Amino acid sequence: MCGIVGYVGDKQAEIVVIEGLRRLEYRGYDSAGIALVNDGDIVSDKRAGKLANLEKAIKESPLPPSTTGIGHTRWATHGAPNDVNAHPHLGRTGRVAVVHNGIIENFAKLREELERTGHGLRSETDTEVAAHLLEVALDESGNLTTAMQVACRQLEGTFTLVAVDGQDPDRVVAARRNSPLVVGLGEGENFLGSDVAAFIEHTREALELGQDQVVTITRDDVQVTDFDGNRAEGKHYHVDWDLSAAEKDGYDWFMRKEIFEQPRAVADALLGRHDGAGLLQLDEVRITEDELRDIDKIVIIGCGTANYAGLVAKYAIEHWTRIPCEVELAHEFRYRDPILTRHTLVVAISQSGETADTLMAIRYARRQRAKVLAICNTNGSTIPRESDAVIYTHAGPEIGVASTKGFLTQLIACYLLGLYLAQVRGTKYGDEIAAVVHELEKMPAHVQRILDDAESVYKLARQLAGARSVLFLGRHAGFPVALEGALKLKELAYIHAEGFAAGELKHGPIALIEEGLPVFCVVPPQGRDQLHAKMISAIQEIRARGAQTLVLAEEGDDEVAPYADVTITLPVVPTLLQPIVATVPLQLFACELATNMGHDVDQPRNLAKSVTVE
Ligand code: F6R
Repeated sequence: MCGIVGYVGDKQAEIVVIEGLRRLEYRGYDSAGIALVNDGDIVSDKRAGKLANLEKAIKESPLPPSTTGIGHTRWATHGAPNDVNAHPHLGRTGRVAVVHNGIIENFAKLREELERTGHGLRSETDTEVAAHLLEVALDESGNLTTAMQVACRQLEGTFTLVAVDGQDPDRVVAARRNSPLVVGLGEGENFLGSDVAAFIEHTREALELGQDQVVTITRDDVQVTDFDGNRAEGKHYHVDWDLSAAEKDGYDWFMRKEIFEQPRAVADALLGRHDGAGLLQLDEVRITEDELRDIDKIVIIGCGTANYAGLVAKYAIEHWTRIPCEVELAHEFRYRDPILTRHTLVVAISQSGETADTLMAIRYARRQRAKVLAICNTNGSTIPRESDAVIYTHAGPEIGVASTKGFLTQLIACYLLGLYLAQVRGTKYGDEIAAVVHELEKMPAHVQRILDDAESVYKLARQLAGARSVLFLGRHAGFPVALEGALKLKELAYIHAEGFAAGELKHGPIALIEEGLPVFCVVPPQGRDQLHAKMISAIQEIRARGAQTLVLAEEGDDEVAPYADVTITLPVVPTLLQPIVATVPLQLFACELATNMGHDVDQPRNLAKSVTVE
C-alpha cells in the first residue's frame, strides 16, 4: 500500500529510484512520482496511473542529474488518483519534497491551521499537510532531521514519510509510525524502501526500524533517533533472498511464477522444523512449553487469504490439540470486546507482516495480556516484531498482489503449530504426529504433480473466460478452500464468485443455481465417509438444477465421477491436509481465466499488496 524509495550515494538517483519503484509497484499503482535534489533545488515529476506513465514523461522531458532522490508509487486514500494528488508533495516554497504511506488522521485540523496562516495547499491529500509542516519546521531549525522530528510530533495516525531538502544535497530523512520502512546499507550509498525489494539489487544488508523513529541517511552514515531526537538503534539483518527472487524469471506474471514456486516454498516452510523422526523443533516459538500447556483458548486473526488459512487451521488445531479455537477477521476483532486472558494464544497470520488491521489487533491482544504468535513471510516486518513469537513461512518474496505461495506456506506453518502444540501438551502420540509430518513432507511432490497438469486447468479456464458468475463449494477443511478459490477469481477476473459451505446451500444459496452455472466442488477424501457422501449429495442437487459441476476429487474417487461434468484429480492426502493440494488448481484457474480476459493479474484494479491502512 504505497511504495516508497529513497537514495543517496554516487549513482544516478533517478535510475535507482525508478528501479526501486518498479519492484515496489505491486504495493500500489494509482500514480507514481519522483523528486531529486539538484543545484539547491527540488526537481520533481509525478503522473497518474502506472509507473510506465512517469517513465514516459521523464523520457520526453528528462530530469537533471542528481545523486539524491525519493520516489513513490501510490494506492490512493485521500483524493482521486490524479497528477495533482500524486506524490511527492512539496512545501509552500518548494524547498522540501515528501512522499508518504499511511493516513494522517488529524490532517483536516492541521490543514485548516495551515490555510489560516496563509498556506495554499494544492492537492486533496493528507500528505501535503506534512510537507508544509516539515518546511515550516525546517525554516526554524535549518536541519531536515530536526524538522522531521518536530513535524512527526504534530501528526496522528499511521505514516512513513521520506523527505529531501533542496538545500541539503546529500541527505534523505524518513520517519515511521505503524507503516513499513527499511534501510538498505550500502558502501558509499544508502537506501530507504517500503521493503527490501526496493534496493535488493544493490545490497542485502538491511536495518529494521522501530516505531516512532526518524532515520537520516547520507552516503556514509545512517543515524536513528526517536521523535524527540534521542539516539535510537535499528536492528541489522541480512536478507536471505536475492534479486532473482524478485524477478519474473521467464514467466508472464509474478503470480504464475509464484504458483509454480510452491513445491519449493512448501519444502522451505518445512525445512528444519522436525528432527527427521517427526519430533517437531520450532525454535522460533519463544513461548515456553509451560506457557503453551497453560493455553485454554486460541484465537486466530488475519484478513483475506490469511483469514482463510486460519479457518483451515481451526479444523486441524482443534482436532489435534482439543484446544478451543476461534477464527476472526482482524478488523472485526478488537471492536467486539473479545474475551482474552493470559491463557489465550492469539495467532496472527500475515504474509506481509504489515497489514494494519492485523497489527492493531495484536496490539490490542497484547494489552489484554494474551500471548501473540505471528505466522509471517516477511522478515523484519512489524507484526512479527511486535509479537511474542513468530513462525516464518519462508516462501520468499511474494510480488503478485494475489496471495498464492503465501497461503500454502501459511497452511504449513499452521499445521506445524498445531502439531507442536499437540506434542507439547501430549494430546497426540509421537508416532501420530510423525505420521502427519510424513504426509506433510510429501506435499511438495503432490503440488508439483498438480502443476505438471496445469494445462488441463488452463483449458477449462479458457472455456469459461466468458462466465459471469462462478460458485465454489466445500465442506470441512474444503470450505475455506472454496472461499479462497472465489476470492482469487473475484480479485483477478472481476467477476462474481462466491464460496459456500456445501451444507449451507439448501438454506438459500441454491437459489443462485441456474442452467450452465459453473460450480467448483471440493470433494473431501473418500476416507471421511459422512463428509464425502454429503458432498456428493450436494453435487447431485446442483446438477439436477442445471449447474456445470467442476469437481476436485481425489484420484480413484469413482463415486463422484458420474456427477462431475469436469473432474480435476487431486492426490490422495489426509482430509486435514487436503487444502494444500485443492487450492492449487483454483489458483491456476483464476490466473489463466483473468489472463484470458486481458487483465493484469499482478496488479488487479483497486488493490494493493499490503494494506497498511485500517
Ligand atoms: C488475497 C490477498 C489478501 C491478503 C490480505 C492479508 O489474494 O492477498 O486478501 O491475504 O490482504 O494480507 P497479509 O497476509 O499480508 O496480512
